[in-house]
Amino acid sequence: MIDQAKVRVLLLESIHPDAVSRLETEGFQVESLRNALDETELLERIPGVHLLGIRSKTQVSAKVLDAADSLVAIGAFCIGTDQIELSAASRAGIAVFNAPFSNTRSVVELALAEIIAITRRLTEKNELMHAGVWDKAANGSHEVRGRRLGIVGYGNIGTQLSVLAENLGMHVSFFDTADKLALGNAQRCSSLDELLATTDVVTLHVDGRPGNAGFFGAEQFARMRPGAIFLNLSRGIVVDHLALRDALVNGHLSGAAVDVFPTEPKGRGDEFVSELRGLPNVILTPHIGGSTEEAQADIGDFVANKLAHFVREGNTTLSVNLPSVALPAQPEMSRTVHVHVNMPGVLAQVNSILAEHQVNVEGQLLSTRGEYGYLITDISGEYSADVLDKLRGMSQTVRLRVLS
Ligand SMILES: NC(=O)c1ccc[n+]([C@@H]2O[C@H](COP(=O)([O-])OP(=O)(O)OC[C@H]3O[C@@H](n4cnc5c(N)ncnc54)[C@H](O)[C@@H]3O)[C@@H](O)[C@H]2O)c1
Repeated sequence: MIDQAKVRVLLLESIHPDAVSRLETEGFQVESLRNALDETELLERIPGVHLLGIRSKTQVSAKVLDAADSLVAIGAFCIGTDQIELSAASRAGIAVFNAPFSNTRSVVELALAEIIAITRRLTEKNELMHAGVWDKAANGSHEVRGRRLGIVGYGNIGTQLSVLAENLGMHVSFFDTADKLALGNAQRCSSLDELLATTDVVTLHVDGRPGNAGFFGAEQFARMRPGAIFLNLSRGIVVDHLALRDALVNGHLSGAAVDVFPTEPKGRGDEFVSELRGLPNVILTPHIGGSTEEAQADIGDFVANKLAHFVREGNTTLSVNLPSVALPAQPEMSRTVHVHVNMPGVLAQVNSILAEHQVNVEGQLLSTRGEYGYLITDISGEYSADVLDKLRGMSQTVRLRVLS
């Protein structure tokens, strides 16, 4: 059992101060460093650390996880978790959490701003004004009210955009490969082609599954209405940029906004190379859809909360790698958390050990995910240390934590 005041937290890569204060409120000892650590540095620092917080630059390899003698959870204070060897984390019973929703509103607001800016041809007017040209003409400028927005991918971002766009007076159609509930007055399209043929603005919010690579190309642009607008703030790999350039240069599309690219420069200041540079009424942004101070603060708060609940209650809701289990904590109860290999008979074996020792189980919840199972058991009254030894000694046990 870890005493709250002895929980050591190591945060890397300048994680938001809200996360630091949230974790300190729990009584944890928090050390926050500005930079990422490389593998050698992390190998030195990780022993004795219970919670590790990283962003996208720190690589958490299987070697680091082997050296992590006290680690119970990793917080990825970002969206992606590719930088963590998730299978090694699961093997060690270490929970990984991220912030999949925290920056969705920021993406939605950027998309809306771009839809209005392109529909009003603001980038062209702005450029002319800076060049000293007063071009007061309404030609080609439109209101978004009454226009039809086509959302491809009706997930966390697509649905929020749907609601806000309707509030602006737009009509909304969407297409999603999964069954999705239409919000407000949005209309579901039964195919991508139907959406392309009936909307004035097409915006992509699909996920980056491998099957989506290159799914939007010359054929799809040709099916869009003449004069329509195209946006991609999802993943760079989903769009054929040469085909987009052609559709813009030949005048079939009247404008576009692109935030994500098949290959993006590694660092700030590196040259950005793209077929889309230099085109009129095209807004290009450096993958900043989710980059706002509000999103960063929300990520800090969201992931810190997940880590705190995991330490205190063992709850794994929205964990990236472990089964999702949430059982309300009961005061005066002792709680065990058992991460195990998912095999038939584990629950029966745990409960027969508890029964043999006359342990009174007050609550129990099991969930499995792939190779692993996660079992929370609430116990009232005293029980002998032998119970824990027996549970730890089971061949399927990956990790056993006693929370109170
Ligand atoms: N630009 C940025 O900075 C930024 C920030 C956050 C998220 N994103 C990206 O935005 C995208 C959407 O994020 P989200 O949180 O809404 O994801 P999500 O997983 O909640 O939603 C994606 C939706 O797309 C649907 N989908 C997948 N493939 C499809 C296809 N070929 N046709 C139609 N529907 C399809 C899925 O069924 C799902 O409903 C992701 O690719 C994410 O990486 C970008």
